[in-house]
Amino acid sequence: KLVGVCVSGGLDSKTVSKRLVEEGVQVLAFSADLGQPDEDDIQNVSKRMATCGVETVIVDLKAEMAEGCFDVVRCQARYDGGYWNTTGIGRIVTCHGLVTAMQKRGVQVLSHGATGRGNDQMRFERYTNVLAPSMLVYAPWRDPALLKEFPGRSEMVTYLSKFGIEAFVGPKKKYSTDANLAGLSHEAEDLESVQTPMTIVDPEMGVWPKDAPDAEELVELTFDGARCVAVNGKRLSPLEVISLANTIGGRNGLGISHALENRIIGTKSRGVYEAPGMELLGRALEYLYQAVLDRRAAALFAHLSSLVSNQIYDGRWFDPATVAARKAIHELTKTASGVVKVGCYKGNIHFHSLSDVAASLYNEADSSMEASDGLNPVSSQGYAEIQAVEARSLALAGQIAK
Ligand code: ARG
Ligand code: SIN
Repeated sequence: KLVGVCVSGGLDSKTVSKRLVEEGVQVLAFSADLGQPDEDDIQNVSKRMATCGVETVIVDLKAEMAEGCFDVVRCQARYDGGYWNTTGIGRIVTCHGLVTAMQKRGVQVLSHGATGRGNDQMRFERYTNVLAPSMLVYAPWRDPALLKEFPGRSEMVTYLSKFGIEAFVGPKKKYSTDANLAGLSHEAEDLESVQTPMTIVDPEMGVWPKDAPDAEELVELTFDGARCVAVNGKRLSPLEVISLANTIGGRNGLGISHALENRIIGTKSRGVYEAPGMELLGRALEYLYQAVLDRRAAALFAHLSSLVSNQIYDGRWFDPATVAARKAIHELTKTASGVVKVGCYKGNIHFHSLSDVAASLYNEADSSMEASDGLNPVSSQGYAEIQAVEARSLALAGQIAK
């Protein structure tokens, strides 16, 4: 059987690949380019894997990743309160892209490097099975033999050095990071204790709010059907939009959050997240939604948004319920077009203005508390009296708690 190993080029990837090769298994490595902030890394993956005698296929998924970010922003798909689902959306793009590339090359087994403790193992398993039901999944870090042989990093280094394979082990990291264009997820190691403040994280996509400039930075975002098509008046591709939003949001300390979230399998997970661009675009779009969605549409949107967010987290992007909910969200948000101007200031986003929102339901004259040629307060008399009828009947029936 031909095994396609999903790799990052790190110590784990090399150990697993070499170990499979030594067992006589035919191995081909695959790595996804998700536009992660540390781009040199991806260029070196093939070189590092070659030291184990394994060929690597690099799949460029940057454009798909940018579309994934746009989907999450459109759906406002934050999980458990704040997390922009950056790893969840990254897994969808990775699995879809790598499974497709593996099928083209006749791979029969997909091997991934997720642990047997978290969410990613479940996402890899589900996506491989829904996209390629005849493909098998191998998770080395759930394999008792491998867990026993490699309880830690030093055993992996020793193993590789037996074959003269250089295993560069940097200084021990304070936490593990999953990276893509949408953002960074930091967890494990020192972050596991809730006695540890989130501020042990060194932001890689920007700065902490305290280190951001003292002056507010204004940004103008142009949306067309809930897609950001221009930043500060300049038309950009989705990939350019997210990259620029990351730069602007990052330097102003936006989108760094802490979570004690509920994992798929029921345990809690402590995480610290960076998603500066998602935060900037997401909040700006939220201001636009407030203008174009009426009250029932907004309530329906909130419900669908929460459903999609949970589905992304759970590895259920391709499920019928997700597809249906996303279609409904498209329908509700197709009128979200216009220009949103916001100010970024030390981790905060300030509303500045809305312009050219053709579908806006906000009518200044109707909403005004001043004398205007909009809503006529005299007409409200009848509406108020009708409301009073119901209020009186509740009171007279003894149904009002006092
Ligand atoms: N808890 C997050 C999620 O499940 C992030 C996991 C990130 N993985 C990591 N190795 N840091 O979506
Ligand atoms: C992992 O388990 O490999 C990473 C963390 C997670 O998926 O929750």
